[in-house]
Amino acid sequence: MSDPPREQKTYVITGGSDGIGLECASQIAAGEPDCRIVLVGRNPGRTASAVGRIRAESPRSRVDSLLCDFADQAAVRRLAEDLLRTCGRIDVLVNNAGTVFARRTLTADGIEATFAVNHLAGFLLTELLLERIRESAPARIVFTSSVGHFTGTLDLDDVGFEHGYSIMRAYSRAKLANVLTARHLAERLEGTGVTVTSLHPGTIATNIWSGAPWFARPVLALMKRRMESPETGGSRLAYLASSPELEGHTGGYYDRNRLRDPSDLARNDELGRRLYDLSTRLVGLSRGV
Ligand SMILES: NC(=O)c1ccc[n+]([C@@H]2O[C@H](COP(=O)([O-])OP(=O)(O)OC[C@H]3O[C@@H](n4cnc5c(N)ncnc54)[C@H](OP(=O)(O)O)[C@@H]3O)[C@@H](O)[C@H]2O)c1
Repeated sequence: MSDPPREQKTYVITGGSDGIGLECASQIAAGEPDCRIVLVGRNPGRTASAVGRIRAESPRSRVDSLLCDFADQAAVRRLAEDLLRTCGRIDVLVNNAGTVFARRTLTADGIEATFAVNHLAGFLLTELLLERIRESAPARIVFTSSVGHFTGTLDLDDVGFEHGYSIMRAYSRAKLANVLTARHLAERLEGTGVTVTSLHPGTIATNIWSGAPWFARPVLALMKRRMESPETGGSRLAYLASSPELEGHTGGYYDRNRLRDPSDLARNDELGRRLYDLSTRLVGLSRGV
């Protein structure tokens, strides 16, 4: 990738190779044909075809891609370096990459993988890009959480479920961490012109459901027929990332484009601060702004 013109509005969208993130990117490119979009994917083939699709749909937009496995903190650091080198500005960071693990899995960094991919990777990426995002203000940071966060719990002494792992417990914990992180970051960035929000995109028929355990798949296949489309989920993410209506609105959790109170735990500011401290330690950062 070469350096963009300074003035070109730039969106960085993780989990941009598929599902909700890809639909969000496609809709932003169609609505803002002069913007630049950097899609971050993991799978090279899916990411290349996502870029091809958006270029074909919106030939005036500038779409690039970068690859990164969010289960690997060193790869997230390399991604941040590539973005800082190639993006003179970052107006919007969409932290959307996410997945599930049917069995408890540890990353090469020794961290439970659901927490690592869904929370820590986006947390680290955001911290590493924060200065550039602040320089680009007015700017936005969006976290894709889930209504599943309402059942999430957070034991800071055992974030990785050494005891009592289940796919849904780990997922809802990571999604709770997304809302806590968005709210805490919004508070830290108050007055900087950078807003931070989170959302539930809806129950959407995407490939994330193929990560469910084998015994749940027949039921999920039936349920998928009644789920909303990736286009609908993507439009809700695009609303937070780009709608002029939300200019200056920060700290909120959205569901179907409406502000909604997140769970009691997600509104626990002390827990948000403690999660921030733990997350900085787990990714090897010193405290930020
Ligand atoms: N679908 C729903 O009903 C629903 C509901 C609530 C919240 N969400 C959230 O929405 C977000 C997007 O999910 P989706 O439903 O659109 O699922 P999806 O179609 O499976 O897309 C997931 C995206 O995340 C990327 N990803 C997964 N693991 C990764 C890793 N280790 N490193 C880097 N990227 C990785 C994938 O990249 P590759 O394809 O390149 O591997 C893909 O672009 C997730 O955060 C999910 O938790 C979804």
